[in-house]
Amino acid sequence: MKAMVLDKFKELFGDTEGVNVYFAPGRVNMIGEHTDYNGGHVFPCALSLGTYAAARKRDDSKLNFYSINFEKSGVMESDIHDIKPEDAAGWTNYPKGVIWAFSERGMRLDRGMDFVIYGNIPNGSGLSSSASLEVLTGFVLRDLYGFDVSNTELALIGQYSENNFNGMNCGIMDQFASAMGKKDHAIFLNTADLSFEYAPLVLNDAKIVVTNSNVKHSLVGSEYNVRRNECETALKELQKVIDIKTLGDLSEEEFEANKSAIKDPVRMKRAKHAVYENQRTVKAVEALKNNDIDTFGKLMNASHVSLRDDYAVSCDEIDVLVEEAWKIPGVIGSRITGGGFGGCTVSIVKNDAVEEFKEKLGNAYKERVGKEASFYLVDIGDGPAKL
Ligand code: GLA
Repeated sequence: MKAMVLDKFKELFGDTEGVNVYFAPGRVNMIGEHTDYNGGHVFPCALSLGTYAAARKRDDSKLNFYSINFEKSGVMESDIHDIKPEDAAGWTNYPKGVIWAFSERGMRLDRGMDFVIYGNIPNGSGLSSSASLEVLTGFVLRDLYGFDVSNTELALIGQYSENNFNGMNCGIMDQFASAMGKKDHAIFLNTADLSFEYAPLVLNDAKIVVTNSNVKHSLVGSEYNVRRNECETALKELQKVIDIKTLGDLSEEEFEANKSAIKDPVRMKRAKHAVYENQRTVKAVEALKNNDIDTFGKLMNASHVSLRDDYAVSCDEIDVLVEEAWKIPGVIGSRITGGGFGGCTVSIVKNDAVEEFKEKLGNAYKERVGKEASFYLVDIGDGPAKL
């Protein structure tokens, strides 16, 4: 990958004198879905898949962006004095958003740069290609321009840019997982205060398998923001009867005792998911610490049911993948992962069942949905790096 982005850089900009190469990972979330904007816990890990960049500062104020994934777009030009979101700017709205978010914090670019990227996260898979690009951009800016920011701040800057420059009201999970990833560990993050711990995720006789449905419904952005609003309204209703800051403050019992304050049945289901999913995440990490993978798997399955029925962010294709996975012996747990409406599932599968899993699930998916599924064995990687 390093040679690939460097070669392209040389082809486009003449030489590679003083060019550095960087990487930031995507993520897969094991459990704790749609809890990160509700003050709950999440449990993602960084992937060894992600986005690579070759970058160098320029002597003038020009910004030149090029993606090997979008060759047809060619070099997309901009200027450090002209940073605003534009439909025509396509993928460059992500790095531009990060440049803008740095300047909002008083860190301005004094000169432009040439920036060539390549990503090996499948497009639209829900494995956070955009968060990896945001964290990558922040990491590059820190290195090239000498900005004094921690990795946690890189995550927050990435989220801020996505919320305010790209109009996607995402939580902090994706950027945090990318910026703070640690090899062979998942991150148990409390999104209420960003306290976290690393938990080893080496599953002796099992593997984490990501299955891509290869579908992405266009609902994803709009419905995401709708869910956020539903949860915010439910929180306000609950706050009239119980003293809480977020839905993540509630136990299941407290929710049940106070839920009648929520005046709409759909909103009640959304809030129920947020509360129960947070509790499931805490229990799942506890089970993992006790080496109780079976309980971890059962909680993953319950998470899927809740995302499907109460939170309504699954879709037929994903439900087929999960339901068929549950039937296969050797599958410890399986659920949708990420924002929803397509993308991927994550499953824990016994080592000796992985081949059968791919074959049976691939066939069932083809038969019932008429599409090919893709499979990735998860290799949990580190956070961003200069290569
Ligand atoms: C998307 C968002 C995250 C998180 C997940 C759902 O990936 O970017 O912040 O809310 O959906 O868990």
